[in-house]
Amino acid sequence: MVPGGLLLLIFTTLHYASGAFVGINIGTDVSNMPSAPDVVAMLKANQITHVRLYDADAHMLKALADSGIEVMVGVTNEEILGIGESASKAAAWINQNVAAYLPSTNITAIAVGSEVLTTIPNVVPVLVPAMNYLHKALVASNLNFQVKVSTPQAMDVIPKPFPPSTATFNSSWNSTIYQILQFLKNTNSYYMLNAYPYFGYTSGNGIFPLDYALFRSLPPVKQIVDPNTLSHYDSMFDAMVDATYYSIDALNMSGIPIVVTETGWPWLGGANEPDATADNAETFNNNMIQRVQNDSGPPSQPKFPINTYIYEMFNEDKRPGPVSEKNWGLFFTNGSSVYTFSLSTSNRITGNSSDFCVAKPNADPGKLQVGLNWACGQGGANCSAIQEGQPCYLPNTYQNHASYAYNDYYQKMHLAGATCDFDGTATTTTANPSYGSCKFTGSSTTTPSSTGGFTPSVAPGPVSPQGGSGTTNLQVLRIQFVISSMFLLLVLL
Ligand SMILES: *[C@@H]1O[C@H](CO)[C@@H](O)[C@H](O)[C@H]1NC(C)=O
Ligand SMILES: *[C@@H]1O[C@H](CO)[C@@H](O)[C@H](O)[C@H]1NC(C)=O
Ligand SMILES: *[C@@H]1O[C@H](CO)[C@@H](O)[C@H](O)[C@H]1NC(C)=O
Ligand SMILES: *[C@@H]1O[C@H](CO)[C@@H](O)[C@H](O)[C@H]1NC(C)=O
Ligand SMILES: *[C@@H]1O[C@H](CO)[C@@H](O)[C@H](O)[C@H]1NC(C)=O
Ligand SMILES: *[C@@H]1O[C@H](CO)[C@@H](O)[C@H](O)[C@H]1NC(C)=O
Ligand SMILES: *[C@@H]1O[C@H](CO)[C@@H](O)[C@H](O)[C@H]1NC(C)=O
Ligand SMILES: *[C@@H]1O[C@H](CO)[C@@H](O)[C@H](O)[C@H]1NC(C)=O
Repeated sequence: MVPGGLLLLIFTTLHYASGAFVGINIGTDVSNMPSAPDVVAMLKANQITHVRLYDADAHMLKALADSGIEVMVGVTNEEILGIGESASKAAAWINQNVAAYLPSTNITAIAVGSEVLTTIPNVVPVLVPAMNYLHKALVASNLNFQVKVSTPQAMDVIPKPFPPSTATFNSSWNSTIYQILQFLKNTNSYYMLNAYPYFGYTSGNGIFPLDYALFRSLPPVKQIVDPNTLSHYDSMFDAMVDATYYSIDALNMSGIPIVVTETGWPWLGGANEPDATADNAETFNNNMIQRVQNDSGPPSQPKFPINTYIYEMFNEDKRPGPVSEKNWGLFFTNGSSVYTFSLSTSNRITGNSSDFCVAKPNADPGKLQVGLNWACGQGGANCSAIQEGQPCYLPNTYQNHASYAYNDYYQKMHLAGATCDFDGTATTTTANPSYGSCKFTGSSTTTPSSTGGFTPSVAPGPVSPQGGSGTTNLQVLRIQFVISSMFLLLVLL
């Protein structure tokens, strides 16, 4: 036995060092679900670094091998009963669905069931035994440091989440939740929370302003303040996470980090669901990403970043229920995104040791097409890899093809002064965009031999073909300046 304190220290240190991430849930109740390799190509093209699967699908786990993407697998609600009643079933599950794919597929967590307390009460008695058996099987395979076990719960387990400081778990589940928390603490795992401001807002009957649910700033008279702690809550999301931290504290269990395993906003709803709009979904998800990536925790736990998985990758059109239930997706199955959003951390200004030039996620498709045509034509990029049947053809989107072409052009020409701009549709990144057998130019240490084949006269010089890029660059520079002044201020303080 290693002392728990030491483990916690190591865990939290890693936590801080890596910065908060935003990942994505991949539900599969989808007509025309793309093949697993196509899904992975889309993830790579959008620089998504963390995914959660609801099961342990063999095709997906294989396709995710060597992708650099971290994976949370799921024990389905149906599987819990068997696993909770038999240690050998748990061991078999680990062997078949986890050990078989490690280390090439980077499985880092197992979500045991989905909202078990609120959706299938009959399984509750075996939930903690199932988690224990799975953990023991991981220990036996020496995988317990690599893979965490937890169980996602709905916000409904906390009947009165506001004000956060007085929130407690529904006391009829005290003993189960207490056992879950003890398990999480003993195994250095984390609490998995499904937190939906959409439902908090729509079921609140107008108590809370929409802006509060969408992370928009509120006028001073409408600020949401916890009367006991006087903490300001800038968003319902923060309040939900904090309500959970306070509920955990109320059971005298502290020091367990929370990961938000689901949050999101539907972009289309029925006639009686007026808040499910593409505008609201776009606002919610982009603001949520910015909020999470600022690395701070909620008011009561400012040092615990809120790692979060968006619900969800595709519209699950086969799900039963209201129209909104089928329209939480960020992407259509053809790989184009439903509305503009950016999960890429490359927009965070972290200095500029950038190696690759890619299309901005959700840049205007028309502009991407122009940029792509230019790069592959006049620009002299080698675009053979994105032709049909070639390694970088899929996903067949302007975003992916433009990324490949922009980068090939940039790798060849930036020493001659070419910029990564393309009328504002391109951005540099240090993250290698290669995936599967699709290797982006510059991804290996060998210099592209074709560099010498180009003379500077072929290139249009350091500006992009469409002009007007000067202002874009200037704006970026200004933002960088403001941000670096802020850092300077922080350092001086
Ligand atoms: C898997 O993910 C963990 C946690 O982020 C990371 O430390 C590790 O380097 C990753 N492993 C591989 C092989 O990418
Ligand atoms: C607590 O949970 C029980 C059992 O599911 C339920 O009957 C009860 O209504 C819940 N209490 C509150 C205040 O939500
Ligand atoms: C459940 O725990 C709360 C503290 O969070 C306590 O106030 C309550 O009395 C407990 N209920 C039961 C039934 O043990
Ligand atoms: C938590 O600890 C306090 C002080 O030690 C004690 O009064 C309280 O009853 C405990 N609550 C629970 C739910 O164990
Ligand atoms: C991060 O977001 C929180 C919540 O909106 C806010 O209180 C905090 O000031 C932000 N921190 C930074 C460094 O921007
Ligand atoms: C992808 O599918 C959506 C929805 O069917 C459609 O609106 C969009 O135009 C398609 N995009 C491409 C690039 O084919
Ligand atoms: C970073 O970018 C700025 C502005 O584009 C440039 O002046 C500076 O030389 C760059 N620094 C490095 C280390 O590349
Ligand atoms: C273009 O790239 C392909 C690989 O994608 C390579 O086989 C071919 O030799 C390259 N052509 C030139 C002219 O560099």
